[in-house]
Amino acid sequence: MLNQLFAIKPVDANAFANSGLKRVLGARQLFLLGIGAIIGAGIFVMTGTAAANYAGPGVMLSFVMAGLACAFAGLCYAEFAAMMPVSGSAYSYTYSTMGEIVAWFIGWNLVLEYLFAASTVAVGWSGYLNSFLSTFGMAFPDALSQAPYTFVAETKSFVSTGATLNLPAVLIVAAISALCYRGITQSAWVNALIVFIKVTVIVLFLGFAFQFINPENWNACAAVAKSSGLLSAELAGKLVAACATDPSAIALIPPTVETAGHAQYGMDGVIRGAAVVFFAYIGFDAVSTAAGEAKNPQRDMPIGILGSLVFCTILYIAMAATMTGLLPFTELGTSKPIATAMQAYPQLEWLKHIVEIGAIAGLSSVILVMLMGQPRIFYAMAQDGLLPKAFEKVHPQYGTPYVGTIIVGIFAAIMAGFLPLSFLGDLVSMGTLLAFATVSAGVLILRYTRPELDRPFRVWGVWLVVPIAVISCLYLFIQPFADHWQVMTGWTVLGFLIYFFYGFRNSKLRKA
Ligand code: ALA
Repeated sequence: MLNQLFAIKPVDANAFANSGLKRVLGARQLFLLGIGAIIGAGIFVMTGTAAANYAGPGVMLSFVMAGLACAFAGLCYAEFAAMMPVSGSAYSYTYSTMGEIVAWFIGWNLVLEYLFAASTVAVGWSGYLNSFLSTFGMAFPDALSQAPYTFVAETKSFVSTGATLNLPAVLIVAAISALCYRGITQSAWVNALIVFIKVTVIVLFLGFAFQFINPENWNACAAVAKSSGLLSAELAGKLVAACATDPSAIALIPPTVETAGHAQYGMDGVIRGAAVVFFAYIGFDAVSTAAGEAKNPQRDMPIGILGSLVFCTILYIAMAATMTGLLPFTELGTSKPIATAMQAYPQLEWLKHIVEIGAIAGLSSVILVMLMGQPRIFYAMAQDGLLPKAFEKVHPQYGTPYVGTIIVGIFAAIMAGFLPLSFLGDLVSMGTLLAFATVSAGVLILRYTRPELDRPFRVWGVWLVVPIAVISCLYLFIQPFADHWQVMTGWTVLGFLIYFFYGFRNSKLRKA
């Protein structure tokens, strides 16, 4: 029985399975594809929440921490993607290293990464759209642009907000799903254009906002003193008391304040913040799903994955420093923190609208990549017999996996319409962190089980890099898990039930 559950799909079979795709992408396109998938709601939306609720101005350190964890995992992805250039990404790598049941578990978690990320980014998109429309007095009313439920970490329960539906979020998911159904592929050209817009907007923000940075805002105590009216009386009291005992040693890291629900501020808060902003880095692994279409994957996969990761890390740290320098961190917890930070400076009003347009365009491309990636992973799983054949169905006219696209679109729209961004974002990060940890461990396992395989890119110091990657990803994983363990456990149980009722009986590998 155990042998069956852990049946391993030969690496060579995987490599063979996708050899029919056209190899058209070069290093530059892969690098741009990575940036297109990476820069999104994480930096445009979550930075503010991470700073206001968890890390304070120490959110800069949160970005460094999350970036390091991703760099180690990214090295491992690069080794796999160069060695096994197939489109199933983490799911396929795991099938060839740890066996079927683990591959299923990772495939199931990739649903959290792709499908839930599409919903999360759609909620962020809705926030920026509404902010932009409000300039012309045309904003959606709150009842139609907010999540009807919010998640309260302290009581681990959902509470009604009084809103009905986040309508813009539902509409953008529906529109992009329709594009995916028709097979409007995210051509390299369109992606390059959106990346150009996103990066230009960020560089403009950094360049023009720089002169308004007030370094006092990086001192948590000074920031708290300036805007304690925004905090609950209890939290403000605790922060002020902590600052009274140690007003000097906190240039970057605000004092630790224990609250009932979660780590807030201090080093604990920085780490919890790292788990939130980790979301901002998700997407470099999406480059590996294009491995089947890369001209020279052996050389270009590592360039695409690691290059886009390094580039975004630098931008992110600069963005976090600028945002927290413009406004006290307590004021950044909005659904559009960059716009909020600029609102305080009339001189930046013109730029605010440009940034909003950039964010609206930039977030759309992330939704597109995620909504295209998910049916593709389902397709790979259905080909292996682990999901029903419907997911393998290709549209006779458009050549797209249309059944999967419709199902993914419906679920993503429902979640975007009803759930809050922070809750969705935590689920995405948890699913992705598990996938990263598993892929990293797989690198070491494969070095041991198949040492003879040709590895065009080898992780340097694998005995050091892999354990650091696994431990740092799992460490970030347990931060949100403390708040959401019931949901995560329920999700896992549901996944295994589906596997035992369907995948286990229909797996092509075992039947063969
Ligand atoms: N990294 C992507 C984003 O921040 C998922 O939107």
